[in-house]
Amino acid sequence: MRAMRRPLIALLLAVPALAPARPLAPPAAHPPVHAPPHARAGPPRQACHAVSARTCEIAHALGRGVNLGNVLDAPREGDWGLRVEPPLLAAAAAFRTVRLPVRWSNHAAPTADATLDEAFARRVDLAVDRLLAEGRFVILNVHHYTQLTGGTLHPREFAVDPRVVETRLVSLWRQIAWRYRDRPDRLVFELLNEPHDAMAGERWNRLAARALAAVRASNPTRTVMIGPDEWNHPRGLPRLRLPADRHLIVPIHSYDPFDFTHQAVPWRTQPLPGGRACCDAAQRAQVTRPLDDALAWGRRHGVPLHLGEFGAYRAGDLISRAAYARLVREEAERRGLGWAWWELASDFSGVWDASEGRWVEPLRRALLEPPPAAP
Ligand code: BGC
Repeated sequence: MRAMRRPLIALLLAVPALAPARPLAPPAAHPPVHAPPHARAGPPRQACHAVSARTCEIAHALGRGVNLGNVLDAPREGDWGLRVEPPLLAAAAAFRTVRLPVRWSNHAAPTADATLDEAFARRVDLAVDRLLAEGRFVILNVHHYTQLTGGTLHPREFAVDPRVVETRLVSLWRQIAWRYRDRPDRLVFELLNEPHDAMAGERWNRLAARALAAVRASNPTRTVMIGPDEWNHPRGLPRLRLPADRHLIVPIHSYDPFDFTHQAVPWRTQPLPGGRACCDAAQRAQVTRPLDDALAWGRRHGVPLHLGEFGAYRAGDLISRAAYARLVREEAERRGLGWAWWELASDFSGVWDASEGRWVEPLRRALLEPPPAAP
């Protein structure tokens, strides 16, 4: 377990980017969403004809983000080396949006009502409220409900009666939504990280509709994210059937080229070989094609998308990982997609070294600095 030793002040001095995010401009200040590209001024916009002006606004305001991963999505806070602590929150706040993965399912009653563990929920409050107070957008999700998606439970993750697994997701959302009903609309809910395997196709569509209805009982217009199956890969989009609702954003994840981003990850049954670099023309196409497919889906359905995760496991060389980070970020931004790097400070692809109290500079620059000016 890595301790966070540096005081907050050191971080604040080191990172000028920690200034609060600009407040959101009112929707009317933006160019028309349906104008053809050549008639538009300013940054690229996604199609939004099936959602409210405010949800469209939020989709475009999410901008540059990071996942506060492996903290509250661990089986227990601290199990994966990180806890909700001021230096970590301050580092996260260098980004305009923080996606906050939370393993609610392991902190709730094993019964259908899934009554939340109040002490754990207060830990979530701490992160949510601190980040909202800093002017950030927060995407709060249900992450690693392993029994729901299928797969081997993590150590210290408990199993429940299979008959209540799905209803517990609905009960969790009823409570989470009620708890945060008065928070600003910069708090966005995401119903489930990466549905896959057991939770796919119509089964996922039906459950997502039930969970959304539970949210809507207390949050009639809050923006909610519902992503496709196949781990949120754009390949799952053709199976996604969204409920009739004007406040939705669809999150997608990008880990292509997978043999680069997941090289040598130890948790795969058959680990992929290491030593892969990035990014040649073929690899660039592997990144951009799924993004273009997703955007085409978004245009057909009139629902904006968000790139909720991308990252490259630390076994890859840092120069390649920084090149990959910049590539995906630029390709997302050029398509009007907000994004969130996986993840802030943990073992997969952290951009903040919590034990040293400093940024992994090549990654930070690739994610947060403007590209170099053309010669
Ligand atoms: C998972 C992480 C994993 C990452 C990259 C995330 O959705 O929660 O555990 O490291 O994807 O595979």
